Amino acid sequence: MPTKIVLGAQWGDEGKAKVVDYLTEDADIVVRYQGGANAGHTVVVGDTKFVFHMIPAGIMHADKICVVGNGVVLDPEVMIDEIEELASKGISSEGRLFLSENAHVVMPYHKVLDKAGEESQGEARLGTTGRGIGPCYRDKVERIHGLRVMDLLDTDEFKDKLAAIIATKNKLLTQIYGQAPLDADEIITCYCAYAERLRRYVTDTSALLNKAIDAGKHVLFEGAQGTLLDIDHGTYPYVTSSNTTAGGACTGTGIGPTRIDEVVGVTKAYTTRVGNGPFPTELLGEEGERLRELGQEFGATTGRPRRCGWFDAPILRRAAQLNGLTSIALTRVDVLDTLDTLKVCVAYQCDGELIEEFPSNPRTLARCQPVYEEMEGWCSPTTQARRLDDLPDKARSYVDRIAQLSGVPVSIVSVGPERAATISV
Ligand code: GDP
Ligand code: IMO
Ligand code: MG
Repeated sequence: MPTKIVLGAQWGDEGKAKVVDYLTEDADIVVRYQGGANAGHTVVVGDTKFVFHMIPAGIMHADKICVVGNGVVLDPEVMIDEIEELASKGISSEGRLFLSENAHVVMPYHKVLDKAGEESQGEARLGTTGRGIGPCYRDKVERIHGLRVMDLLDTDEFKDKLAAIIATKNKLLTQIYGQAPLDADEIITCYCAYAERLRRYVTDTSALLNKAIDAGKHVLFEGAQGTLLDIDHGTYPYVTSSNTTAGGACTGTGIGPTRIDEVVGVTKAYTTRVGNGPFPTELLGEEGERLRELGQEFGATTGRPRRCGWFDAPILRRAAQLNGLTSIALTRVDVLDTLDTLKVCVAYQCDGELIEEFPSNPRTLARCQPVYEEMEGWCSPTTQARRLDDLPDKARSYVDRIAQLSGVPVSIVSVGPERAATISV
C-alpha cells in the first residue's frame, strides 16, 4: 500500500476510523496529524467497540506502529486513559506508540476558556466540543503561552513557564469570564505525573516517519474532523482550529507533499453536522429525526444529536478539489436500506441563480437552497454485501451516481460499523 491520507470529506464523523481500521491491514504505520480530543473515532471489531480521541485507530492491529504527530494538540489525560483502556482489553501500546515532542499540550485553562468563551457568545456560539481545542491552537499561534510536549518533559522549564502563564490565564478567567482561578501547583503536580507516564513514547516523529517512508514502509494518515471544518477552507467561523484538509497531513507530521501517493475522502451516503453553521440539505422535523434514528446519529465525543440531511454533491466536489482526492470511501450505505425515496443534492439555487460549485463564502452558502434529484430506494438489507455485485441494483446506481457527480472513483463502500462490513472496489 502506498502512502495514503484518509480524511473526512464533509463535516466530520464520516466513518474515518472505520476506514482507517480497514486499511491498516495493509499499512505499517498509522498517524494522526491534526485536531485533538475533539475527535471521536469509532472502531468496531467483532463485539469490541472502541472510541478513540487521541490514539490513531490503527492501534487495534497489534503489530502496527501508531504516531501522534506534531500538528495534534495533545490531551495527556485522554491519551493515558486510552492507553490504559486498551491495555485492559489486551491491546498493548508499548514499543509501538510514538508522540511528537513538538505537539502542543492542552491545559486545564484551555478547556475552561473554551467553555466560558462559548457561554459568553450565547446564541452566536460555535457549538465546540469543549475540549480546549481553539484556546490551545490560539496559544500555539500566538507563541507566548504555548506549551509543547518537550516543555512538559523538562520539569524545571515547565514549572517556570507555567507559573508565568497561569498568572495571565487566571486574570482572563476571573476578570473577563467571572470564573474561579486555577491553582498552578495542582496543575504542575498533575501534568508532571502525566509527563512521566508519557515520556517513553516521545520522540522526533518527523524523522521517524521520513525514515520509515525511505525504507519503503506504508504510512496511513488518519484525518480528524472534516474538510468543511478546516480553519481556512471550511464554513468559517463554524469550523475547528486546524487544517483538516490534505495539506494538514504534511504540516502536521513533517512529511513533504511529494511523498503522498493517495488521498481518500470519506463521505457518508447522506450528510451530518454537529455544532452550528450553515447546512443546505439539513432535514428539519420528522424526516431529519428519521435519518437520525436510522443512523443513530449521536456524537462519539459529546453525545450531541447530529443534524442530518441528504447527500450533497457540491460538498463532495469541493472536497475533491481542496484535497486532491484520488478516491472516495462511501460509508453508511446500509442506513438508507429502508427508505423508499432518496434525494441527492446536485446543485444549489442561490439569489435566483443555479450554482454547481460550493460557495466559499458561508453567508452565500446560508442562502443556498438545494436542487434535488430523486432516486428510488433499494428497500433491502445491504449489511451482508462483501462485493459490489452483492448490492441491490438500486444501491449500486446510488453509489455510481455519487462517483459520477463528484468526478472521483469510489474505492470503498461501507455497509456497517464492523470491520468486515466493507466492500473493496
Ligand atoms: P469518524 O469520526 O469519522 O471516525 O466517525 P465516528 O466514529 O464519529 O462516527 C461514525 C459512526 O458510524 C460510528 O458509530 C461508526 O461505528 C459508524 N459506522 C462507520 N461506518 C458505518 C457504516 O458503513 N454503516 C453503519 N451503520 N455505521 C457505520
Ligand atoms: P471527528 O474527528 C464532528 C465540530 C464541533 C464544532 C466545531 C468546532 O470525530 O470527525 P472544536 O471543539 O473543534 O473547537 O469545535 O467542530 N467538531 C466535530 N464535528 N466530528 C468531529 O471530529 C469534530 N471535531 C470538532 O462540533 O462545530
Ligand atoms: Mg467522530
